[in-house]
Amino acid sequence: MNYKNALNHTIFKVISEAAKDLNLDAYVIGGFVRDFLLDRGSHKDIDIVAIGSGIELAKAVSRKLPDQPKVQIFKTYGTAMLPFEDLEIEFVGARKESYNENSRNPVVENGTLEDDQNRRDFTINALALSLKESTFGDLLDPFNGVKDLEDKIIRTPLNPDITYSDDPLRMMRAIRFATQLDFEIEKQSLNAISKNNERIKIITNERIVVELNKILESKTPSKGFLLLEQTGLLKHFLPELTALKGIDEIEGQKHKDNFYHTLEVVDNISEHTDNVWLRWAALLHDIGKAPTKKFSKKVGWTFHTHEFEGSKMVYHLFKRLKMPLNDKMKYVQKLVFLSSRPIVLAQDEVTDSAVRRLVFDAGDYVDDLMTLCAADITTKNPKKFEKYHNNFKIVRDKIIEVEERDHVRNFQPPITGEDIIKTFNLKPSREIGQIKETIKEAILEGDIPNEYEAAYELMLETGKKLGLKIHEKR
Ligand code: CTP
Repeated sequence: MNYKNALNHTIFKVISEAAKDLNLDAYVIGGFVRDFLLDRGSHKDIDIVAIGSGIELAKAVSRKLPDQPKVQIFKTYGTAMLPFEDLEIEFVGARKESYNENSRNPVVENGTLEDDQNRRDFTINALALSLKESTFGDLLDPFNGVKDLEDKIIRTPLNPDITYSDDPLRMMRAIRFATQLDFEIEKQSLNAISKNNERIKIITNERIVVELNKILESKTPSKGFLLLEQTGLLKHFLPELTALKGIDEIEGQKHKDNFYHTLEVVDNISEHTDNVWLRWAALLHDIGKAPTKKFSKKVGWTFHTHEFEGSKMVYHLFKRLKMPLNDKMKYVQKLVFLSSRPIVLAQDEVTDSAVRRLVFDAGDYVDDLMTLCAADITTKNPKKFEKYHNNFKIVRDKIIEVEERDHVRNFQPPITGEDIIKTFNLKPSREIGQIKETIKEAILEGDIPNEYEAAYELMLETGKKLGLKIHEKR
């Protein structure tokens, strides 16, 4: 088969000519070819394999380009990267490769195109298009990768035990591609992942998180998490999630399986948001349930304070996985911490003051919190489902109403500590905090409007009750 039409971009002609000048063959390989055949939109990372030096080819290509972009050379790996327009072109010499047991660092030898295809992760990623003038666009597909694309199958070119042991991250990649593309992992391969799951321990957390994020960003993330769990991989990096598995029963009382529930929530939320951090919040919203689970004869199963425990666990989990400990982490923590609030609200009558408190506590995250909580409704009872969603609609409407009237989203008290100090001529003291708290409470309860006048009056009144003398009126 010939796929010249995949190579319309001028860069391929330039690479072809440069390769001819150097008297070597070059091929486009990997994700670019795969995604072209899948019609997945253009792939901005282009992998070129040279039968010879990839670095020399990259330099020769750069010399032929208008601005001669700088080639970045990675000597240890024998690769080079050339940026061109919005593309990143990666050059590598074809190699035969084997890895030693306990590290990812390969022992590399020069090889043929076939050698190079052999050492790639999946048949669908080993497809190559020729850049040689006489065969420009010809497909080289020694492992029937095209058939696997059609049949939607993830398969390794070699015995999967070898492919996965060469680079154990590929076990995660198999699951990631299966999730992203909605493919199935071929049985032998799946068995090999289960058998070798321990080997994931030699992979850095940063690389694992890259794959986890790609799974979470997919249309139906549960597919990936189920596979990660079934193959035994998940427990190595997210034991907090596997701890949610299982249903306990005492005296006929059961709780739901919080692992499967969590995956349902993640799928639900993925229909409403592409924000990967909100998806993380959905994934982690119940992790506090494992350590807080208790049974009492009177009330059955409880998970008291699981939101608080869960939010603390988010920090440790992010830290362990070397994820950013910045505002993204705080965002996930806060959503986990508040994740039960709107549901509790929606089960009872929705009062203004409860909504005002919610908006005050959630601040700018209130809309995302509502999205999370709506996704959390996984009840199979249609009556309850409808009731909760109707109540949520009331909560959402009230949020808008309360917001317009009371502006509590990023609440700044109308009376500052300074105002209180001046009025009563105070040194820093407990009374200042008490007065501030009283004003805040009164506003959130709806006893006074969120305005200076009313807050000022309440300050004077509260000061008087505390036995303070007015020193300076405004
Ligand atoms: N590859 C591999 N083993 C790995 C990583 C990559 O064999 N652990 C090979 C595959 O042939 C892959 C190519 O290197 O197609 C490029 O890898 P990468 O850029 O990570 O992935 P893509 O396949 O391009 O896909 P995506 O951009 O979706 O990650």
